[in-house]
Amino acid sequence: MADLRELMGRISEVKKAITENSENLKDRKAVYEMRKSYLEKNGSIGQLMRYMRDIDPTQKADFGKMVNELKSWAVDYFDSLDDDMKEKELNLRYESEKIDITMPSRHLQSGCLHPVTQIRNQLIDVFSGMGFTIYEGTEVENDYYNFTALNTPKDHPARDMQDTFYLSPEFLLRTQTSSGQIHVMESQKPPIKILSPGKVFRSDDDATHSPMFSQMEGLVVDRNITLGDLQGMLDVFVKRIYGSETRTRLRPSYFPFTEPSVEVDVSCFSCGGKGCNLCKHTGWIEVLGAGIVNRRVLENCGIDPDVYSGLAFGIGIERTAMLKYGINNIKQLFESDLRVLSQIKDR
Ligand code: DAH
Repeated sequence: MADLRELMGRISEVKKAITENSENLKDRKAVYEMRKSYLEKNGSIGQLMRYMRDIDPTQKADFGKMVNELKSWAVDYFDSLDDDMKEKELNLRYESEKIDITMPSRHLQSGCLHPVTQIRNQLIDVFSGMGFTIYEGTEVENDYYNFTALNTPKDHPARDMQDTFYLSPEFLLRTQTSSGQIHVMESQKPPIKILSPGKVFRSDDDATHSPMFSQMEGLVVDRNITLGDLQGMLDVFVKRIYGSETRTRLRPSYFPFTEPSVEVDVSCFSCGGKGCNLCKHTGWIEVLGAGIVNRRVLENCGIDPDVYSGLAFGIGIERTAMLKYGINNIKQLFESDLRVLSQIKDR
């Protein structure tokens, strides 16, 4: 016969064991495992019920009550242990995932296109809106396409206008995108409307000239093309690039491949024409060369000048960028100094 006193001792031993053993539990999983070992059917508390058989019948009720009290104490105990552990784990996580919202953010610099590319794209945008398509020629050209076919034969004084890098007596680095005109007119019949952007090369080097720079050539060949068409198209281009108030004027000039030839000026977009440093107090700024395609050039390409006429223009892309963005040394466009380039974000 088991003695109730002794059993009470067992009960308090279990209670003591639970309290002591739970002191060093590491995590909720450990709490769960321990809880199982005491409260499962065959757990330590359940096993106390086995003594029921050996107990005096008058004491069974008291013993049962004590075991049940122990059980509900244990349930509450493990519940609160689990709650504590939950909070502890959460705090640890908060600590390890702490975010310092006062920390300065990492500065993400957005890139932008190079000013020369920006202008090139803007020009393509303007002229493709007028129906021009792109023709890209080659940078190495032969003498015929760069000069002779453009009405500039070997002994022509106009060759001195452009200091040429010759690769051989026959081949050279093109000095102008005008060479593209010949390739296009040789391979296409009018109507022709092309835009030819690209790099050109001249032995020339100062604040406004660089041995390599970019041009944008335009060529339109059709019936009845006149200087009026030229002025109309350039008006659209100038207003889009330099602002809607800008006016154009054509000044007589000379290029071997155009007749008549003109220099195109725009009213100064900095002072509005009143006179300032940018326009050298003239109110006008020269922006490009253009003209009516010389009959000889059309003939050289097998196009009948009595049926067709053409207009052509050549725009300096760096020059346009310098004027538009107020850059006074062309080297700034080639040095890739981000302090300069990052200020120019048109699009
Ligand atoms: N090729 C000339 C130059 O580089 C620019 C030019 C002038 C192009 C008149 C043309 C034009 O098409 O008609 O200086």
